Amino acid sequence: MVLRRTLTRRSLLLGAAAGFVASRARPGRASAGYPFTLGLASGNPTADGIVPWTRLAPEPLSPDPSHPGGMAPIAAPVRWEIADDPAMRRVIRQGVADAEPQFAHSVHVELAGLEPARDYWYRFTVGDAASPIGHTRTAPSRTATTGRLRFAFASCANYEHGYFSAYRHLAAEMPELVLFLGDYIYESVSQSPRRVRSHSDGVETTDLRTYRNRHAQYKTDPDLQLLHAAAPCLAIWDDHEVQNDYADRWAVNFADPAAFLVRRAAAYRAFWEHMPLPRSALPNGPDATIHGRFDFSDLVSFLLLDGRQYRSRLACDTGPRGGAKQLVDAACPERLDPRRSYLGMAQEAWLYDQFRSGSAGWNVVAQQQMMTEFKQLESGAVTHWSDDWNGYPAARHRLLSQMRDTGLANPVVIGGDIHSFFANDLKLDFDDPRAPAIASELIGSSITSVGPPHGKFVAWVADNPHIRFFESRRRGYVSVDLRPSRMEVAFRVVANVRDADSDAATLQRFVVEAGRPGPLPA
Ligand SMILES: [Fe+2]
Repeated sequence: MVLRRTLTRRSLLLGAAAGFVASRARPGRASAGYPFTLGLASGNPTADGIVPWTRLAPEPLSPDPSHPGGMAPIAAPVRWEIADDPAMRRVIRQGVADAEPQFAHSVHVELAGLEPARDYWYRFTVGDAASPIGHTRTAPSRTATTGRLRFAFASCANYEHGYFSAYRHLAAEMPELVLFLGDYIYESVSQSPRRVRSHSDGVETTDLRTYRNRHAQYKTDPDLQLLHAAAPCLAIWDDHEVQNDYADRWAVNFADPAAFLVRRAAAYRAFWEHMPLPRSALPNGPDATIHGRFDFSDLVSFLLLDGRQYRSRLACDTGPRGGAKQLVDAACPERLDPRRSYLGMAQEAWLYDQFRSGSAGWNVVAQQQMMTEFKQLESGAVTHWSDDWNGYPAARHRLLSQMRDTGLANPVVIGGDIHSFFANDLKLDFDDPRAPAIASELIGSSITSVGPPHGKFVAWVADNPHIRFFESRRRGYVSVDLRPSRMEVAFRVVANVRDADSDAATLQRFVVEAGRPGPLPA
């Protein structure tokens, strides 16, 4: 007999298929003023610590800027508990944190002194109201030997484009770590009759109130809440957390960099308030540090990058483009200028220091976009997309050269942004089909966001032999089972983003063997 494992939103919410969430009961939820409408999350796992997060928001989409989330502008004490059992009978640490109005009553508990590679459960309470119970896990110690890590990555979850079933299916896989690679929210609004759901306020986010409400709306999604309650995360942003295709202080359709920095400060602040990030990541105005290194024993180092905040202005971007094409051709020599950087020179230097000091068996570079060269033959001319790494080929060449020259062990680049699955070889010379791969690259489609035109891209892919796999018609995420000798990769897809109870399946599997760069179909 074949047991068909049907994961529906209803069954997960009832806990039938989610034993990890010990109690889906939400005391007080039915009564007015339940403060945990945004669920909870945990992030930044280290060998001895984790950052549990929640935000009090009895009215998550409150339009009143003086009462964000429906909270009065005074600090509110929140009790937190962490236990080493799923029923929370053995509470090992507890305390009270102030949810402060200047941070939209968010709570970021910075726990230290925990055991490495251990499961923990946590919850928050305010008065009689208790949050759900979340599961989290610390990283193994840097000096330990670990035989396996199951992690996953996701990006591009446009609420208007569909339901977050992909997040629900990922939660059921119980990964030890989830990486969000950007476009966790979208700032824009759609007028399309094809949209499945509508963004709060019906306006593009531009200030702290609207960014807060957009983040809050996403966090009310039950599938996203399930995922955050199931596993710890690491999160970086891409452009849509602020505005489409921005670069540092230059934004599309936005002529005034100083005014854009005010907007960027609001967006970065709201991101911090809604993510399980430590105080060290709190923005200072328009500046924030989200890049960093996270070691998981001798098995893998994750190098998280920020490809937006410090990048050079887009090549041949002469001002507000008003929808002009972002494909540039040989008439744009600026694209090749080695003084231009995708990461900014300071972050590049930091990254190459990490390459030199790396000792893990695998090195996963977690960043926003596709790194491999993607020549696009438009109207007979070779063109490149100026907004991703293809707009910064000298910076890409520097990074790949450093990977080779430092002998970085088993580099794997992961990314999103392009709303398609890709499996690629990263090479120093993309024009030479015989040139060896320096690193592997895996790009993880989108949770919901609509993909680029399939037929057009398939034709272009033929001119890029280092691209081993491409699919833009399916939405999903990527699951990774990592061992010292091999990385097993599953491109996971949902059947239909317009169906809140959509099923999921595996589209394609790949393997990266240690010592042999380049993903191979499995
Ligand atoms: Fe996106």
